[in-house]
Amino acid sequence: VATLSLPDVNPLDPVIYGTGDPSTYGLPLDVYKYLREEKPCYVQEFGNPLLIDRVWMITRHEDTWAIDRDSETWAANRGLVNTWRILNIDPIEYPGGKPAMLTLDGPEHRRNRGVFSHAFTPNVLAGLETKFRAFAKQVVDAALRVDGPLDFVHQVANPMPMQALGDMLGVPEADRAKFFGWVDTFASPFDTRVVTGMDQVEAAIKDLMDYALELWDLRTREPGDDLLSTVIAGGEGQLSQDEIMGNISLLANGAAESTRTTLSHGIHQLMRDPDQMAWLRERADDIPVTVAQELVRIATPFAHFVRTATKDVELHGQRIKEGDRACMLFASANFDPQAFDEPERFDLSRDPNPHLSFGRGPHSCLGKHVASLEIKILLEELLQRTKDIRPAGDISYISDNFSRGVYSLPVTLTKA
Ligand code: HEM
Repeated sequence: VATLSLPDVNPLDPVIYGTGDPSTYGLPLDVYKYLREEKPCYVQEFGNPLLIDRVWMITRHEDTWAIDRDSETWAANRGLVNTWRILNIDPIEYPGGKPAMLTLDGPEHRRNRGVFSHAFTPNVLAGLETKFRAFAKQVVDAALRVDGPLDFVHQVANPMPMQALGDMLGVPEADRAKFFGWVDTFASPFDTRVVTGMDQVEAAIKDLMDYALELWDLRTREPGDDLLSTVIAGGEGQLSQDEIMGNISLLANGAAESTRTTLSHGIHQLMRDPDQMAWLRERADDIPVTVAQELVRIATPFAHFVRTATKDVELHGQRIKEGDRACMLFASANFDPQAFDEPERFDLSRDPNPHLSFGRGPHSCLGKHVASLEIKILLEELLQRTKDIRPAGDISYISDNFSRGVYSLPVTLTKA
């Protein structure tokens, strides 16, 4: 740590995450520690044509949470909530697609979130469990039919949220691969193995928005027992077409990839830690709630979110001006010893676990219970039906500074 100096440190360099150290969850924990201790609030310049010019980097848990909670001082509705240049400074030419709830504040945000929250009540959630279990069984069946090593990311962690979310949203089965293909593009704009340029990302955003509208029309004509049909029935007339497109794209984008990412980092870490794997196997018939929380903490599927100051603010002796952007580095906050006992330890029974991976303010993740349920059920099915899960090669991380995706994770499963 003593050898790091600020000019060398850019905690949002996509390459740091692409070449992350598996023994520290793929995260630059030494860089985060240095920043939390020495520079808890500083200006990070990017000099990258794909990113905005600069942000105030906020790395401590307390400060990050305070910003996330205070939407009057820290707006989500002035530009995008990450550091991409596209959509922030260079709006894409597209006739429609209003900002989704994630980039709204105040009454507009409450109206958009209110309409969708009908679909996330405890009753709806209880109804999902049987369906999710059926999907998890199918996914594990298919994985166990593979003779030899398989790629956990694409053969286990991807199909689970793809089926679960596809079903929740009412995406016809035949369209699911196409639908989540756009999402992959969206989620990895910097990784040339996945995407060749921002024009491809732009095309995926447009395709997703067009499809969102088709889907809305389909579920208006043919309602089912899915989220969209519920939202249409409960909130008809309350959202414009543009708002619908934006919110469906948000759901598609935020919900599937993040769950896949958590499962992939989670299994990887479990294979590295036989004691925790054994602890979990003993509880495989009903996995405790603390497990998904710890997996989401170490994965931090979205490494950061960005807000814009609505007035001048002073923080740690620095003057942040109205209009300046501040980056809440969730990945650093999640390892802050001021908030967590032994934060670098992987502890599936950690309680309390005040991680910020789902956010903790007015925008806090609407689907956090859905994601946690998917993770719990998939792990239960997988652990009950295997007696061993071993690495069959190295993990390969996606090179990105926002989504903490895993590109591949070769494993061998041994049937129980
Ligand atoms: C492990 C999986 C997931 C993670 C880590 C995650 C993380 C997040 C984060 C960090 C935010 C923004 C919080 C903030 O700004 O304070 C968010 C918002 C949101 N998430 Fe998730 N999410 C996950 C899964 C899901 C799922 C499965 C759904 C839906 C089925 C979902 C729906 C949403 C929605 C609608 C919002 C916007 C809420 C608002 O702006 O009011 N997420 N999520």
